[in-house]
Amino acid sequence: MSKKLKIGLFGFGCVGQGLYHVLNNSTGFKADIIKIAVKDKNKTRTVGSDLITYDKWEILNNPEIDVVVELIDDAEEAFHIVSEALRRGKHVVTANKKLLATHLEELYCLQKENNVSLLYEASACGSIPIIRSLEEYFDNEELEKVSGIFNGTSNYILSKTINEKLSYGEALKQAQEKGFAETDPTNDVEGFDPKFKAIIIALHAFGLIIKPENVLNIGITTLDEHDIRYASEKGYKIKLTPVIQRLEGNQVSVFVAPRFIKEQDQLFNVENEFNGVVVEGKFSGEQFLQGRGAGSLPTGAAVLSDISALSHGYRYEFKKYLQKNAPVFTNDVLVHLYIRYNREEDLNHLFFDEVNEKYTGSTYHYIVGKINLKKIIEAREFILTHNLFIALVDEKVTLDRTVNNKEIVEELQMVG
Ligand SMILES: NC(=O)c1ccc[n+]([C@@H]2O[C@H](COP(=O)([O-])OP(=O)(O)OC[C@H]3O[C@@H](n4cnc5c(N)ncnc54)[C@H](OP(=O)(O)O)[C@@H]3O)[C@@H](O)[C@H]2O)c1
Repeated sequence: MSKKLKIGLFGFGCVGQGLYHVLNNSTGFKADIIKIAVKDKNKTRTVGSDLITYDKWEILNNPEIDVVVELIDDAEEAFHIVSEALRRGKHVVTANKKLLATHLEELYCLQKENNVSLLYEASACGSIPIIRSLEEYFDNEELEKVSGIFNGTSNYILSKTINEKLSYGEALKQAQEKGFAETDPTNDVEGFDPKFKAIIIALHAFGLIIKPENVLNIGITTLDEHDIRYASEKGYKIKLTPVIQRLEGNQVSVFVAPRFIKEQDQLFNVENEFNGVVVEGKFSGEQFLQGRGAGSLPTGAAVLSDISALSHGYRYEFKKYLQKNAPVFTNDVLVHLYIRYNREEDLNHLFFDEVNEKYTGSTYHYIVGKINLKKIIEAREFILTHNLFIALVDEKVTLDRTVNNKEIVEELQMVG
């Protein structure tokens, strides 16, 4: 029989209150929230003052509390809270993707050393049960790819600018008014948020722990009407999509960039604040999951699902991470890109391996071709500060054979 858990909750904002509501209105599952730690002493609360504390140690040092649910908006403080909780033998549930992506290895070790469970379904794509699906359903199957739309704010802005012809500024304002975008939307529109989620997913899908600074993220901040027109004329939509793809030689490529999406693609009709995840297995083929990527109640429901799993003693097994032949991460891949640029000199920063199309107009220029991802990583700052826009023309990336062959030759020479 499952045990009734006693919870110490950190954070009572959008997700914390969502969890409180979902837990109190759930008929099938019961757990007690014993204390809620928050920060601002001047805020009025919708729960009794006896539940509230401003002192984290009141939760961390309480032996009665067996689960810490971490839902604060400060990743560094969250790391401190989560590490202390795990060290004290408490199970932890968190929705904090930045915390996880930045400290994945340390947190993996901490939960293992202390023989406790760390669950984080709500950290990636809100209510879509992607992590548990990868852990439980796809645990034995070799995966080829996981991609999708992992960020509701940028998808909302893209839907409104492309389908309803709103300006970028108007669409962002609307997303903020509806509570999808934060006052500072940098993490969402520059692709950091979907990158953190891609890093978490890469661990469960491919057994990789990757540092965020090694993964390219380019967002949608430089999108303009020329790019929208180019896409519309070809019948494409533009979406911000992380790509996590297996390549030859047991290598995996991970990055986040805008992409032109064709009508037959599963992601074509994933609009507004919705997220979509495509998982491609070696034997099972393509699976598609769609759902609400954020919001108080959907995210609260994902947190509740983790708490409920805990009551049955559930832990992630990290099977793919522990397998002997886990793949390695690479950025030495060729990506097929459209790049809108402003002046011919801009191309001096971009070294294409292959050019398929080039257009030079009086106010608008673009080039389409294949380029090594590392060249884009080197040119990232230039692309963003000089207002260039890039979009993947084709989701599939290929290993850059020139680089890989050169490295093999160099290795052989060293051995020789
Ligand atoms: N919003 C979503 O839809 C969503 C979806 C998926 C994942 N997440 C993740 O869930 C987490 C929470 O997001 P949110 O949207 O709920 O944030 P939020 O609405 O801004 O609420 C943050 C809460 O954290 C509390 N807090 C901040 N620093 C604290 C500290 N040092 N000690 C104790 N409490 C502290 C705040 O206290 P005060 O109330 O006193 O200010 C507030 O209650 C974040 O990691 C976010 O990335 C959010």
